[in-house]
Amino acid sequence: MSTPLGLLDRRLLIVTGKGGVGKSTVSAALAECAAARGRRTLVCELDAKGDLARILGTDPVDYSGREVRPDLVAMTMDTEQSLAEYLKVQVKIPFLGRIGPLARVLEFVATAAPGVREILTIGKLAWEARESDYDLVIADATATGHIVGQLSSPAAIRDLVRLGMIRHQLDWMLELLEDPSKTSAIVVATPEEMPVVETMELVGRVRDDTHIDVGAAVVNRVLPAPFTAAERPVFDTLAAIAPEEDCSPPGFFSAVEATTHALRRREVGSSHLRRLREGLPKGLPVLLLPEIFDAAATHGGIDLIAAALAAEANW
Ligand SMILES: Nc1ncnc2c1ncn2[C@@H]1O[C@H](COP(=O)(O)OP(=O)(O)OP(=O)(O)O)[C@@H](O)[C@H]1O
Ligand SMILES: [Mg+2]
Repeated sequence: MSTPLGLLDRRLLIVTGKGGVGKSTVSAALAECAAARGRRTLVCELDAKGDLARILGTDPVDYSGREVRPDLVAMTMDTEQSLAEYLKVQVKIPFLGRIGPLARVLEFVATAAPGVREILTIGKLAWEARESDYDLVIADATATGHIVGQLSSPAAIRDLVRLGMIRHQLDWMLELLEDPSKTSAIVVATPEEMPVVETMELVGRVRDDTHIDVGAAVVNRVLPAPFTAAERPVFDTLAAIAPEEDCSPPGFFSAVEATTHALRRREVGSSHLRRLREGLPKGLPVLLLPEIFDAAATHGGIDLIAAALAAEANW
Protein backbone atom coordinates (compact mmCIF):
# COMPACT_ATOMS: atom_id res chain seq x y z
CA MET A 1 0.00 0.00 0.00
CA SER A 2 1.37 3.42 -0.83
CA THR A 3 2.05 5.96 1.88
CA PRO A 4 0.62 9.50 2.01
CA LEU A 5 3.05 11.98 0.42
CA GLY A 6 4.57 8.97 -1.33
CA LEU A 7 7.98 9.58 0.22
CA LEU A 8 8.36 6.05 1.54
CA ASP A 9 7.39 4.67 -1.87
CA ARG A 10 10.42 6.27 -3.54
CA ARG A 11 13.55 4.22 -4.25
CA LEU A 12 16.07 6.85 -3.10
CA LEU A 13 15.70 9.69 -0.60
CA ILE A 14 18.56 12.14 -0.16
CA VAL A 15 18.41 13.97 3.13
CA THR A 16 20.33 17.24 3.14
CA GLY A 17 20.51 20.61 4.91
CA LYS A 18 22.82 22.91 6.84
CA GLY A 19 25.29 21.41 9.34
CA GLY A 20 23.82 20.34 12.65
CA VAL A 21 20.13 20.81 11.81
CA GLY A 22 19.28 17.13 12.23
CA LYS A 23 19.99 15.39 8.90
CA SER A 24 21.22 12.20 10.59
CA THR A 25 18.29 12.28 13.01
CA VAL A 26 15.75 12.73 10.20
CA SER A 27 17.45 10.03 8.07
CA ALA A 28 17.27 7.61 10.99
CA ALA A 29 13.62 8.49 11.66
CA LEU A 30 12.68 8.07 7.99
CA ALA A 31 14.48 4.73 7.92
CA GLU A 32 12.65 3.53 11.06
CA CYS A 33 9.31 4.62 9.59
CA ALA A 34 9.99 2.85 6.30
CA ALA A 35 11.25 -0.37 7.91
CA ALA A 36 8.32 -0.41 10.34
CA ARG A 37 6.02 -0.31 7.32
CA GLY A 38 7.70 -3.31 5.77
CA ARG A 39 9.93 -1.48 3.29
CA ARG A 40 13.33 -3.13 3.19
CA THR A 41 15.51 -0.08 3.82
CA LEU A 42 19.18 0.82 3.49
CA VAL A 43 20.25 4.00 5.28
CA CYS A 44 23.72 5.30 4.45
CA GLU A 45 25.73 7.97 6.24
CA LEU A 46 27.82 9.81 3.66
CA ASP A 47 30.17 11.75 5.92
CA ALA A 48 31.34 8.82 8.06
CA LYS A 49 31.09 10.68 11.37
CA GLY A 50 29.29 7.79 13.01
CA ASP A 51 26.29 9.86 14.12
CA LEU A 52 23.79 7.75 12.24
CA ALA A 53 24.74 4.50 14.00
CA ARG A 54 24.73 6.29 17.36
CA ILE A 55 21.27 7.72 16.72
CA LEU A 56 20.03 4.29 15.66
CA GLY A 57 21.45 2.94 18.91
CA THR A 58 23.82 0.51 17.27
CA ASP A 59 27.57 -0.16 17.06
CA PRO A 60 29.47 1.70 14.34
CA VAL A 61 28.71 0.50 10.81
CA ASP A 62 31.06 0.41 7.83
CA TYR A 63 30.82 0.22 4.05
CA SER A 64 29.64 -3.37 4.07
CA GLY A 65 26.59 -2.42 6.18
CA ARG A 66 24.75 -4.32 8.87
CA GLU A 67 21.11 -5.16 9.60
CA VAL A 68 20.31 -3.15 12.73
CA ARG A 69 16.63 -4.14 12.86
CA PRO A 70 14.44 -6.29 10.71
CA ASP A 71 14.29 -4.62 7.27
CA LEU A 72 16.75 -1.89 8.28
CA VAL A 73 20.38 -1.99 7.15
CA ALA A 74 22.80 0.83 7.99
CA MET A 75 26.10 1.56 6.23
CA THR A 76 28.76 4.24 5.88
CA MET A 77 29.97 5.56 2.52
CA ASP A 78 33.60 5.13 1.55
CA THR A 79 34.54 6.41 -1.91
CA GLU A 80 37.69 4.32 -2.07
CA GLN A 81 35.76 1.12 -1.44
CA SER A 82 33.07 2.28 -3.80
CA LEU A 83 35.71 2.64 -6.52
CA ALA A 84 37.14 -0.80 -5.75
CA GLU A 85 33.68 -2.31 -5.94
CA TYR A 86 32.93 -0.50 -9.16
CA LEU A 87 36.12 -1.68 -10.80
CA LYS A 88 35.57 -5.23 -9.65
CA VAL A 89 31.86 -5.59 -10.41
CA GLN A 90 31.46 -3.38 -13.45
CA VAL A 91 34.77 -3.08 -15.25
CA LYS A 92 36.05 -6.49 -14.14
CA ILE A 93 39.58 -5.12 -14.07
CA PRO A 94 41.85 -8.14 -13.57
CA PHE A 95 45.02 -6.16 -12.89
CA LEU A 96 43.66 -4.21 -9.93
CA GLY A 97 46.34 -5.50 -7.59
CA ARG A 98 49.06 -4.15 -9.83
CA ILE A 99 47.90 -0.59 -10.30
CA GLY A 100 48.83 0.57 -6.84
CA PRO A 101 46.94 1.72 -3.77
CA LEU A 102 43.34 2.53 -4.53
CA ALA A 103 43.54 5.90 -2.86
CA ARG A 104 46.19 6.91 -5.42
CA VAL A 105 44.15 5.56 -8.29
CA LEU A 106 41.16 7.49 -7.03
CA GLU A 107 43.23 10.65 -6.70
CA PHE A 108 44.47 10.21 -10.27
CA VAL A 109 41.04 9.53 -11.72
CA ALA A 110 39.46 12.36 -9.75
CA THR A 111 42.06 14.82 -11.04
CA ALA A 112 41.66 13.62 -14.61
CA ALA A 113 37.86 13.63 -14.52
CA PRO A 114 36.26 16.06 -12.10
CA GLY A 115 33.03 14.69 -10.73
CA VAL A 116 34.26 11.11 -10.45
CA ARG A 117 34.57 11.26 -6.68
CA GLU A 118 31.03 12.57 -6.44
CA ILE A 119 29.68 9.97 -8.80
CA LEU A 120 31.23 7.17 -6.78
CA THR A 121 28.98 8.24 -3.92
CA ILE A 122 25.75 8.82 -5.78
CA GLY A 123 26.53 5.88 -8.07
CA LYS A 124 26.79 3.45 -5.16
CA LEU A 125 23.48 4.66 -3.75
CA ALA A 126 21.79 4.44 -7.13
CA TRP A 127 23.26 0.97 -7.63
CA GLU A 128 21.89 -0.26 -4.29
CA ALA A 129 18.50 1.26 -5.10
CA ARG A 130 18.43 -0.46 -8.48
CA GLU A 131 20.21 -3.77 -8.04
CA SER A 132 19.84 -4.82 -4.39
CA ASP A 133 16.71 -6.10 -2.77
CA TYR A 134 16.10 -2.79 -0.98
CA ASP A 135 12.77 -1.08 -1.47
CA LEU A 136 14.22 2.21 -0.29
CA VAL A 137 17.70 3.71 0.05
CA ILE A 138 18.08 6.75 2.31
CA ALA A 139 21.21 8.90 2.08
CA ASP A 140 22.17 10.89 5.15
CA ALA A 141 23.94 13.40 2.94
CA THR A 142 26.60 15.99 3.62
CA ALA A 143 25.83 19.59 4.52
CA THR A 144 24.43 21.97 1.95
CA GLY A 145 27.36 23.07 -0.23
CA HIS A 146 28.55 19.69 -1.38
CA ILE A 147 25.30 18.02 -2.23
CA VAL A 148 24.43 19.97 -5.37
CA GLY A 149 27.76 18.87 -6.90
CA GLN A 150 27.01 15.27 -5.98
CA LEU A 151 23.53 15.39 -7.37
CA SER A 152 24.52 17.08 -10.62
CA SER A 153 27.62 14.92 -11.22
CA PRO A 154 25.95 12.17 -13.31
CA ALA A 155 24.44 14.74 -15.67
CA ALA A 156 27.74 16.64 -15.86
CA ILE A 157 29.69 13.48 -16.65
CA ARG A 158 27.08 12.34 -19.16
CA ASP A 159 27.74 15.53 -21.08
CA LEU A 160 31.41 14.52 -21.32
CA VAL A 161 30.95 10.84 -22.04
CA ARG A 162 29.19 10.08 -25.28
CA LEU A 163 29.69 6.39 -25.81
CA GLY A 164 30.31 3.07 -24.18
CA MET A 165 29.69 1.33 -20.95
CA ILE A 166 30.03 4.35 -18.68
CA ARG A 167 27.52 6.22 -20.78
CA HIS A 168 25.08 3.34 -20.43
CA GLN A 169 25.55 3.33 -16.64
CA LEU A 170 25.01 7.06 -16.44
CA ASP A 171 21.82 6.72 -18.41
CA TRP A 172 20.20 4.28 -15.99
CA MET A 173 21.50 6.27 -13.03
CA LEU A 174 19.96 9.46 -14.39
CA GLU A 175 16.76 7.68 -15.18
CA LEU A 176 16.53 6.76 -11.48
CA LEU A 177 17.74 10.09 -10.13
CA GLU A 178 15.65 12.32 -12.36
CA ASP A 179 12.35 10.50 -11.91
CA PRO A 180 10.43 12.25 -9.09
CA SER A 181 8.46 9.10 -8.40
CA LYS A 182 11.74 7.31 -7.63
CA THR A 183 14.16 9.87 -6.18
CA SER A 184 13.59 12.91 -3.97
CA ALA A 185 15.74 15.22 -1.92
CA ILE A 186 14.46 16.06 1.55
CA VAL A 187 15.78 19.29 2.99
CA VAL A 188 16.06 19.65 6.74
CA ALA A 189 16.05 23.00 8.53
CA THR A 190 15.55 24.36 12.00
CA PRO A 191 13.36 27.40 12.69
CA GLU A 192 16.34 29.76 12.98
CA GLU A 193 17.59 32.56 10.78
CA MET A 194 20.63 31.02 9.03
CA PRO A 195 19.21 27.52 8.50
CA VAL A 196 16.10 29.11 6.97
CA VAL A 197 18.12 31.32 4.60
CA GLU A 198 20.40 28.42 3.60
CA THR A 199 17.48 26.07 3.09
CA MET A 200 15.75 28.43 0.70
CA GLU A 201 19.03 28.84 -1.21
CA LEU A 202 19.60 25.09 -1.27
CA VAL A 203 16.14 24.32 -2.61
CA GLY A 204 16.70 26.95 -5.31
CA ARG A 205 20.04 25.41 -6.28
CA VAL A 206 18.75 21.84 -6.36
CA ARG A 207 15.92 22.99 -8.60
CA ASP A 208 18.11 25.18 -10.84
CA ASP A 209 21.29 23.08 -11.09
CA THR A 210 20.00 19.49 -10.95
CA HIS A 211 16.99 17.60 -12.24
CA ILE A 212 16.28 16.11 -8.85
CA ASP A 213 12.90 16.53 -7.24
CA VAL A 214 12.62 18.16 -3.82
CA GLY A 215 10.02 15.99 -2.07
CA ALA A 216 9.59 17.73 1.29
CA ALA A 217 11.11 20.14 3.76
CA VAL A 218 11.43 18.97 7.35
CA VAL A 219 11.61 21.66 10.01
CA ASN A 220 13.24 20.02 13.00
CA ARG A 221 13.39 21.13 16.63
CA VAL A 222 10.18 23.17 16.58
CA LEU A 223 9.44 24.20 20.15
CA PRO A 224 6.13 22.80 21.35
CA ALA A 225 3.52 25.25 22.68
CA PRO A 226 3.56 25.29 26.49
CA PHE A 227 -0.23 25.64 26.52
CA THR A 228 -3.18 25.99 24.15
CA ALA A 229 -4.41 29.30 22.72
CA ALA A 230 -7.48 29.03 25.00
CA GLU A 231 -5.22 28.78 28.05
CA ARG A 232 -3.12 31.78 27.04
CA PRO A 233 -5.34 34.45 28.75
CA VAL A 234 -4.92 32.58 32.06
CA PHE A 235 -1.15 32.84 31.71
CA ASP A 236 -1.37 36.51 30.66
CA THR A 237 -3.41 37.27 33.78
CA LEU A 238 -0.82 35.55 35.98
CA ALA A 239 2.05 37.27 34.16
CA ALA A 240 0.40 40.67 34.71
CA ILE A 241 0.73 40.36 38.48
CA ALA A 242 3.37 42.92 39.35
CA PRO A 243 6.28 41.72 41.50
CA GLU A 244 5.32 44.29 44.19
CA GLU A 245 2.05 42.49 44.77
CA ASP A 246 4.00 39.94 46.69
CA CYS A 247 1.17 37.59 47.45
CA SER A 248 2.37 34.67 45.39
CA PRO A 249 3.99 31.34 46.28
CA PRO A 250 7.81 31.17 46.22
CA GLY A 251 9.18 30.70 42.71
CA PHE A 252 6.08 32.21 41.11
CA PHE A 253 7.85 35.08 39.33
CA SER A 254 10.80 33.03 38.12
CA ALA A 255 8.36 30.43 36.71
CA VAL A 256 6.43 33.20 34.93
CA GLU A 257 9.67 34.63 33.62
CA ALA A 258 10.90 31.26 32.32
CA THR A 259 7.58 30.65 30.55
CA THR A 260 7.62 34.15 29.05
CA HIS A 261 11.12 33.44 27.74
CA ALA A 262 10.01 30.10 26.24
CA LEU A 263 7.04 31.81 24.60
CA ARG A 264 9.28 34.48 23.12
CA ARG A 265 11.67 31.86 21.70
CA ARG A 266 8.74 30.05 20.18
CA GLU A 267 7.42 33.24 18.61
CA VAL A 268 10.83 33.99 17.07
CA GLY A 269 10.94 30.41 15.76
CA SER A 270 7.43 30.79 14.35
CA SER A 271 8.44 33.91 12.43
CA HIS A 272 11.42 32.06 10.88
CA LEU A 273 9.13 29.17 10.04
CA ARG A 274 6.67 31.57 8.35
CA ARG A 275 9.51 33.04 6.32
CA LEU A 276 10.61 29.58 5.25
CA ARG A 277 7.11 28.58 4.18
CA GLU A 278 6.82 31.78 2.12
CA GLY A 279 10.23 31.20 0.51
CA LEU A 280 9.71 27.56 -0.46
CA PRO A 281 8.05 26.50 -3.70
CA LYS A 282 4.26 26.45 -3.49
CA GLY A 283 2.88 23.03 -2.67
CA LEU A 284 6.11 21.61 -1.19
CA PRO A 285 5.09 19.60 1.90
CA VAL A 286 6.59 21.02 5.10
CA LEU A 287 6.80 18.54 7.97
CA LEU A 288 7.40 19.80 11.50
CA LEU A 289 9.31 17.79 14.11
CA PRO A 290 9.30 18.88 17.74
CA GLU A 291 12.27 19.69 19.92
CA ILE A 292 12.68 16.61 22.09
CA PHE A 293 13.81 17.41 25.59
CA ASP A 294 14.63 13.83 26.50
CA ALA A 295 18.29 13.52 25.40
CA ALA A 296 17.99 9.74 25.13
CA ALA A 297 15.49 10.23 22.32
CA THR A 298 18.17 11.50 19.94
CA HIS A 299 20.91 9.21 21.23
CA GLY A 300 19.89 5.69 20.49
CA GLY A 301 16.17 6.00 21.00
CA ILE A 302 14.89 7.48 17.79
CA ASP A 303 11.35 6.14 18.35
CA LEU A 304 9.91 9.43 19.62
CA ILE A 305 11.10 11.34 16.58
CA ALA A 306 10.05 8.57 14.21
CA ALA A 307 6.59 8.59 15.81
CA ALA A 308 6.39 12.39 15.47
CA LEU A 309 7.41 12.13 11.81
CA ALA A 310 4.87 9.40 11.11
CA ALA A 311 2.11 11.46 12.76
CA GLU A 312 3.09 14.59 10.84
CA ALA A 313 3.31 12.80 7.48
CA ASN A 314 0.16 10.79 8.17
CA TRP A 315 1.93 7.45 7.72
N1 LIG B 1 14.16 17.08 17.39
C1 LIG B 1 15.26 17.14 18.16
N2 LIG B 1 15.15 17.45 19.48
C2 LIG B 1 16.25 17.54 20.24
N3 LIG B 1 17.51 17.36 19.81
C3 LIG B 1 17.69 17.08 18.50
C4 LIG B 1 16.58 16.96 17.60
N4 LIG B 1 17.07 16.67 16.37
C5 LIG B 1 18.41 16.61 16.48
N5 LIG B 1 18.80 16.86 17.75
C6 LIG B 1 20.19 16.90 18.25
O1 LIG B 1 20.90 17.84 17.47
C7 LIG B 1 22.21 17.39 17.20
C8 LIG B 1 22.48 17.38 15.70
O2 LIG B 1 21.64 16.40 15.10
P1 LIG B 1 22.16 15.54 13.85
O3 LIG B 1 23.44 14.86 14.16
O4 LIG B 1 21.00 14.71 13.39
O5 LIG B 1 22.39 16.74 12.82
P2 LIG B 1 23.14 16.70 11.40
O6 LIG B 1 22.45 17.69 10.53
O7 LIG B 1 23.22 15.31 10.91
O8 LIG B 1 24.57 17.23 11.78
P3 LIG B 1 25.90 17.20 10.87
O9 LIG B 1 25.74 18.32 9.88
O10 LIG B 1 26.99 17.45 11.87
O11 LIG B 1 25.96 15.85 10.23
C9 LIG B 1 22.35 16.03 17.83
O12 LIG B 1 22.98 16.16 19.06
C10 LIG B 1 20.91 15.57 18.03
O13 LIG B 1 20.80 14.74 19.14
MG1 LIG C 1 24.90 14.11 10.41
